[in-house]
Amino acid sequence: MGTTAQLGYLGLEVSDLGAWRRFATEALGLEVGALRPGGALPLRMDGHQHRFLLHEGPANDVAYIGWELADGAALEVLCGRLDRARVPFRAGTATEAAERGVKQLIHFVDPNGIRVEICHGPSMGAVPFRPGKIRSGFHTGDQGMGHVLINARDCAETERFYRDVLSFALTDYVHSEAPDRPLHAVFLHVNPRHHSLAFAELPLSKRLHHFMLEANSVDDVGAAFYRCQDLGVPLQRGLGRHQNDRMLSFYGYTPSGFCFEIGWGGRVIDDRHWEVKTYPGASEWGHRPLAPA
Ligand SMILES: [Fe+2]
Repeated sequence: MGTTAQLGYLGLEVSDLGAWRRFATEALGLEVGALRPGGALPLRMDGHQHRFLLHEGPANDVAYIGWELADGAALEVLCGRLDRARVPFRAGTATEAAERGVKQLIHFVDPNGIRVEICHGPSMGAVPFRPGKIRSGFHTGDQGMGHVLINARDCAETERFYRDVLSFALTDYVHSEAPDRPLHAVFLHVNPRHHSLAFAELPLSKRLHHFMLEANSVDDVGAAFYRCQDLGVPLQRGLGRHQNDRMLSFYGYTPSGFCFEIGWGGRVIDDRHWEVKTYPGASEWGHRPLAPA
């Protein structure tokens, strides 16, 4: 995908828009925009006009993942790769591009049945983003909006698809054979962020396990951890630091039942010196389970 790609936006199908409005503002510190003509609710976290689009519906899962490329030429190169790999894709309509707030997009379905959109030319907000509950703001820019961990149907097939067809770069693996918590997770990057996409075969019915948003200050992570408890947001894992991306974070449940992670201090990758490793566990310390995954 090149190193100028980023996780651009996430489309979520949620059954309770009202709960999400409060959760997004009060817990995550996002800015809720005006409902779009198609009925989607935009959430903003940086200069982009939005980074989330919420669609009302029963799935309570990811609806699509949007990857942003530098320009139309990069999108054309990617279309060539899809053609050569015989992955059927379609051009987004003008209505879809307007709703997503991008100049152009294409879309296809990944091996997990997730709709993937590749775009360029995002609309930026008319006024600068003003941080709310996450007072230091979010670490985005060329590292994109954060990362997602998806529940893969077949980890090996998903790895092949994202690395070989879409040219995501391998970061590392977490492989644990602990009887209580066996895990094989794959971490991929498309820019200096340690990973923008991770996946594992999880005992979940949803395709999305969590999305991660990175604050600019560690204090915002601690404050969010306690704020979520005050708000009654169910937490999944307490504060801890991951071994591979060094992210200091905690996990909680969104109103749709999949998780969010709020972190700080994520590792940055320089591809020239990167050595792929396999880690025996996910966390260096903490991340103690507070509720079932
Ligand atoms: Fe994460």
